[in-house]
Amino acid sequence: MSETIRTQVAIIGAGPAGLMLAHLLQRSGIELVILESRSRDYVESRVRAGVLEHGTSELLRETGVGERMRREGLVHRGIALRFNDRSVRIDFPDLTDGKTVTVYGQQEVVKDLIAARLATGAPILFECAAVAIDAGDEPSVRYRDAGGAEHVVRADFIGGCDGFHGVSRHSIPKETLKIFERAYPFGWLGIMSETPPVGDVIYARHERGFALASLRNPNLSRYYIQCGLDTEIADWPDDRFWDELKRRFPDDIGRKIVTGPSIEKSIAPLRSFVAEPLRYGRLFLAGDAAHIVPPTGAKGLNLAISDVFYLQRALAAHFANGDDRYLERYSDMALRRVWAAERFSWWLTKLLHVFPDDDAFETRIKLSEFDHLHRSKHARAMVAEQYAGLPFED
Ligand code: APR
Ligand code: PHB
Repeated sequence: MSETIRTQVAIIGAGPAGLMLAHLLQRSGIELVILESRSRDYVESRVRAGVLEHGTSELLRETGVGERMRREGLVHRGIALRFNDRSVRIDFPDLTDGKTVTVYGQQEVVKDLIAARLATGAPILFECAAVAIDAGDEPSVRYRDAGGAEHVVRADFIGGCDGFHGVSRHSIPKETLKIFERAYPFGWLGIMSETPPVGDVIYARHERGFALASLRNPNLSRYYIQCGLDTEIADWPDDRFWDELKRRFPDDIGRKIVTGPSIEKSIAPLRSFVAEPLRYGRLFLAGDAAHIVPPTGAKGLNLAISDVFYLQRALAAHFANGDDRYLERYSDMALRRVWAAERFSWWLTKLLHVFPDDDAFETRIKLSEFDHLHRSKHARAMVAEQYAGLPFED
């Protein structure tokens, strides 16, 4: 039987953006409903990136969902960039006002946010997919449950947090939305392996392509290599992956890589994408629903969190005293941070990857840029400031 639910905010999507928005709104005493098309198990086991900016981990901690992250997350003071035999260390506390980043998997953040909400007795409607949105003066979301029955949520506002393939962005008329986009001619082939990691987060450029060493915990390594867009996972058995990975790192790192069976292997294309504005009537977009960054700067999750930080503050001011100034500014404010991250991840992607049309000139320019990073503390500070995370605006 179809039912109609009435609430203050309808949130579509239980990824990091939707879950964190729900968590923050719930703390302000705002009523909400979250719809998620997938199962709990699916969203909790989806492997994604794992570097939390300083401000992201602070926000999780300050709002009571940072306990497991504090215990299990790994605080990192920096990253390393390697370019053939050249090495640059970006030391965050030294180059910023004492900031660090925390290595903690996105799906762990998702698990913690789900557990926190369910512990309050409030539900998440899993396996309920939004199918139509009305963002007008009487906003509503029509959704279909696992049994195929359709229901309606009526709300004052809608949070479109349903990721890149969701329905929220597509419910905005094409003539209203401006799209800015860059597709890159390669992807990342990533593996997770229960082996001791090399320890640091290391980005390497090599003439055979980019490689990244990362980790989740002292016995869980995460590695990526740049691959062609036509790459098939079946063509990359573990041995071939490890051989290629080691070739792309300088010897001192290659020797430290401990190989073993992979427990996850996946390919993701790289893309930069921004849809503007983030508001249409009473629908507000946040996270991947509105923008995508290539994973090179580890910004995707952090942007989802900063968007919803701005959005919850705006909604809280509306419901507390009818003050809509933050709501009016939400799109501009969130987009400033989005574009900063777009620029940073585009720049780092260009610096570290081999493009099919890179000629000798392009390669020399990148080498010179690397030398600049090596020699100049100011250049390294630019990387540190953005990697560790720009502050939220007041
Ligand atoms: N109805 C309900 N839920 C939906 C619908 C729909 N029609 N369409 C998609 N969803 C759900 C997806 O199943 C997913 O769980 O919305 C959620 C969106 O979550 P994410 O894709 O994780 O996006 P977001 O929360 O914005 O987080 C961004 O995720 O993709 C990574 O690198 C990205 O780290 C970044 C982060
Ligand atoms: C990861 O650990 O998965 C990771 C780390 C850094 C990135 C991207 C992904 O830039």
